[in-house]
Amino acid sequence: MSDNRSSFSGKIGFVLAAAGSAVGLGNIWRFPYLAAKYGGGIFLLVYLILSLTFGFALMVTEIAIGRKTGLSTVGAFQKLNKKFSFVGYLGAIVPALILPYYSVIGGWVMKYLVVFASGGAESSADGGGFFSEFISSNLGAAVWFFVFLAVTALIVLFGVEKGIEKVSKMMMPVLAILAVGVAVYSCTLPNAVEGIKYYFIPDFDAFSFNTVLAAMGQMFYSMSLAMGIMITYGSYMKKDVSIEASVSQIEIFDTGIAFVAGLMVIPAVFSFTGAAPVKAGPSLMFISLPQVFVDMGAVGTFVGTLFFLLVLFAALTSSISLMETVVSVICDKIKISRQLSCLIVFVFSVLLGLVSCFGYGIWEDVTVLGMQFLDFFDFFTNSILMPIIAFFTCIVVTFVIKTKAIEDEVEISGKFKKKRLFRVVIKYIAPICIILILFSSIVAVYSEPITNGLSKLIGYDNAELIMKYFVV
Ligand code: TRP
Repeated sequence: MSDNRSSFSGKIGFVLAAAGSAVGLGNIWRFPYLAAKYGGGIFLLVYLILSLTFGFALMVTEIAIGRKTGLSTVGAFQKLNKKFSFVGYLGAIVPALILPYYSVIGGWVMKYLVVFASGGAESSADGGGFFSEFISSNLGAAVWFFVFLAVTALIVLFGVEKGIEKVSKMMMPVLAILAVGVAVYSCTLPNAVEGIKYYFIPDFDAFSFNTVLAAMGQMFYSMSLAMGIMITYGSYMKKDVSIEASVSQIEIFDTGIAFVAGLMVIPAVFSFTGAAPVKAGPSLMFISLPQVFVDMGAVGTFVGTLFFLLVLFAALTSSISLMETVVSVICDKIKISRQLSCLIVFVFSVLLGLVSCFGYGIWEDVTVLGMQFLDFFDFFTNSILMPIIAFFTCIVVTFVIKTKAIEDEVEISGKFKKKRLFRVVIKYIAPICIILILFSSIVAVYSEPITNGLSKLIGYDNAELIMKYFVV
């Protein structure tokens, strides 16, 4: 990202940096609500399978492309094949679309940190009233969004992210330990067992292509895949560091934290409300966790404050790297100063973020494809753009540079143990899955006319049966 392509000091440096980018709100805020929404155990199962196969293969590919070309996403695809440089550009658009709404959630975390630190924990644990009032407060929520984004921009502008990264590297293990502690506590709440069962036991009736689509989107998001980030990271990686081993470690770290976050949130929701929180969506963590902390009694305020502080750091390291990516692409491509580029990204993010913010307030009634703005941006990037980018990455690897080019790059630093898996996934499984799944999301949006058409051909009952797999 800097002009002189420096490299990570060694293996640990690389794994920590990549894990720092990967672990963020995606793990702690997004994963639990998706797991709750898409059937608990079945989502967890699909997610694990996807991340061990598809996630693994794609991350290896991206890092190898980065290390091989020594360039970040736009340049890398250009170098591989001019015709496919649009994949690089698409990849650069994704972080620009994520950053604004990421900062809205970052603002929510800040607000909760301040509420907890100033002794207001009790008031925030009222089953959702406090939260909905806050996010629909327009200006109130916008101010926190603005503060979060401004902090991110200042850090990127003054280039002090090294300092932040150091702090967050120390905080990350603390976050992991604290999360385990809170998860254990959550699981011992009355009736939490129902939640644990919901989270662990897959209910195959709840399965649909949407489960796979959501799990796949989450996998891209959480591991910062399909947007060029890992290509950039790979370009800083030394040749003697093992790509395969690093990817495994990043995956274990990232998936581990997401898994524990689910255990913090889902059993607690069952304990407090007695049912699966199908509709809660993005608000889930902000409603259930304050209740867990308050339930802890006197120590709860302290634990809650510490928790939101750690999450804030995890979110900041991610938002910094999101902004940095966009800023550097603009700098490189239109040859303007870093400061100006930063300003442009900031203004753009404020405008787009405000849309997400007001989507819960004055623009509550405006929806896109039946979604609120924040949900829509999230859906559009994770469920549409990223699968498309991943699809073309597979195509480029299979037909243009060939899987062997990636394998050779991986083998520079040792044996490629899961070479077969990598090859089958990138060549066949991933592209076919993505096409099926993208198709199914179109079908889901137009389910009514399609069901009607199908029933004329094969009868209503059969049409229903088929459609069941497409629509949740
Ligand atoms: N993976 C991050 C998380 O789980 C979010 C994220 C998506 C991200 N894309 C990114 C972070 C790019 C840094 C850079 O929260």
